[in-house]
Amino acid sequence: MDFLDLPQLISAAGTVRLPGSKSISNRVLLLAALADGETEVRDLLASDDTERMLDALKTLGVGVTHLGGDDWRIAGCGGRFPTKAAELFLGNAGTAFRPLTAALALAGGDYVLKGVARMHERPIGDLVDGLRQLGADVTYLGNDGYPPLHLKPASIKPDGAVRVRGDVSSQFLTGLLMALPLTGQAAGVEVVGELISKPYIEITLATMARFGVQVQRDGWQRFTVPAGSRYRSPGTIYVEGDASSASYFLALGAIGGGPVRVEGVGRDSIQGDVRFAEALAEMGAELETGPNWMQARAPKSGLVAVDLDCNHIPDAAMTLATAALFARGTTTLRNIASWRVKETDRIAAMAIELRKLGATVEEGEDFIRVTPAALRPAAIDTYDDHRMAMCFSLAAFGTPLRINDPGCVAKTFPDYFERFAAATRAAPVIAIDGPSASGKGTVAARVAAALGYAYLDSGALYRLTALAARQAGVDWADEAAVAALAAVLDVEFAGDEIILNGKPVGDAIRTEEMSAGASKVAALPAVREALLFRQRVFGKAPGLVGDGRDMGSVVFPRAVLKIFLTASAEARAERRYKQLIGKGLSANLPDLLLDMKQRDERDSQRSVAPLRQEADARLLDTTALGIEQAVDQVLVWSREALQ
Ligand code: DC
Repeated sequence: MDFLDLPQLISAAGTVRLPGSKSISNRVLLLAALADGETEVRDLLASDDTERMLDALKTLGVGVTHLGGDDWRIAGCGGRFPTKAAELFLGNAGTAFRPLTAALALAGGDYVLKGVARMHERPIGDLVDGLRQLGADVTYLGNDGYPPLHLKPASIKPDGAVRVRGDVSSQFLTGLLMALPLTGQAAGVEVVGELISKPYIEITLATMARFGVQVQRDGWQRFTVPAGSRYRSPGTIYVEGDASSASYFLALGAIGGGPVRVEGVGRDSIQGDVRFAEALAEMGAELETGPNWMQARAPKSGLVAVDLDCNHIPDAAMTLATAALFARGTTTLRNIASWRVKETDRIAAMAIELRKLGATVEEGEDFIRVTPAALRPAAIDTYDDHRMAMCFSLAAFGTPLRINDPGCVAKTFPDYFERFAAATRAAPVIAIDGPSASGKGTVAARVAAALGYAYLDSGALYRLTALAARQAGVDWADEAAVAALAAVLDVEFAGDEIILNGKPVGDAIRTEEMSAGASKVAALPAVREALLFRQRVFGKAPGLVGDGRDMGSVVFPRAVLKIFLTASAEARAERRYKQLIGKGLSANLPDLLLDMKQRDERDSQRSVAPLRQEADARLLDTTALGIEQAVDQVLVWSREALQ
């Protein structure tokens, strides 16, 4: 599976121009398609969900032209899709599925609407019931109440108000409202039960108004589309930045110092999720807002827990759940039952993943309660849910972590992790690679001590793996078995001592035999893979010095300083000789030199992560240098790099 490892973060600051709002993008596309005249849509979100909508419109015969960048031209069809029979695949895009269902049911035609398996588990019965009240012919092709759907031509009669439930998803009401002008007659909707996510309805009404249809509303219970309503192109329309996407960056500023400024949404936004800023302010963050920007900083005294009704910000509220990991006290997010029918059951998913990090979590039908703890590294599953991936990136302020399937962010924010990396600073890593006995271990440990950083002797992990295999009677060439051992290696680095399976290993991993074994198991790709995350979790605040063969190339490619530390094979053999004799062990210089050359050969010729000087690594040849001189040189470079 694809994954992204995040190092521990130490600060966040910067400015982020947000991608277009998903909710507005898909509403604008549909209304532009239904309108009279051509619409130029600027700043459209480029994402999976909008692609599903664009594809569907093309299939329906709507003229869709890419003008370059995020700008598109849509040739409206005046409420009549040219293609009268089609099968549409809408992925997991709820913002495409619900409104298209309503529009196609009322526009008339023979259509099949399908999605991914999860889409077929997301309820749509309340919308279908509403459409049937208008006379629409809708059949369930799978389970009753769920997609896929078959729509057939029917005679549509909007007499009396359509009754639709408002307490499962506001997208049902949005779908109906946007489709009602297609009836050409006065049409009303009455909401049954408490309407949830009202801000999304405000977006719907505001977008319809931009296309010339004024919905009359009586509180949040009754909506009327006047007779003769028709969508007309506004000419050019700009899509606002995505307010839910803003939440991650505002939270970054609130946790990581800031200021982090987001551009594209602000005080004048029509998106309800901008009120996330108020929730963050309630946690103590310092917020500033302008007409189309917002900015957050961390409070001096730290964030505090909140107890909030989040019905008005269902999507952005997920960001509060991970921000809660950095707040004093227990945070409770209430009235979030809609989380259970989103891309995944978000309450359940959030609870499981927060617990992996060490937090205490209580979940109920419509609430979640999070009590923070010292975070521990974990591999976070994202459930094909873009927001899970983005929310959990915040947890990197507490621990290095792995995000599985990070590509799911493409649903709404394809380059999220690039923007995230640009707005944050990770705990610095100094990577020192080089051949055996080049002195890199000693140099790395001393540099780490001088800077107050942690030290990772990555070679020790390969040596421990070789030792564990030997103890378990596993052959060093048995890749799968050695990798399985490496994955569950019970090892603890306690100061200068290494504990394997509860017992100090002492010099047992430093013998020539284990050196050879380590070099052999290190050539096995599955073993390297199994040890990768284990090494990366050393990338913690305030910083790390790691030594090995692939610290700079594979394990910490974003290291602030990469050094290739080497010495001639003769000098290294002699150092090893003196080391062994010093420990009272017997040694033979010609044999050591031969071993050294063989090991160099194996380490540099293997196919995975071979030993070599990377283009961005500085060379330090210690053949003629003492340890002190080598340490001093690395410290000089480190201080330059850390400035
Ligand atoms: O640095 P060392 O001699 O303790 O390393 C032991 C072996 O492990 C060495 O032969 C190469 C391998 N190794 C590796 O492949 N990648 C690393 N990052 C560190 C060590």
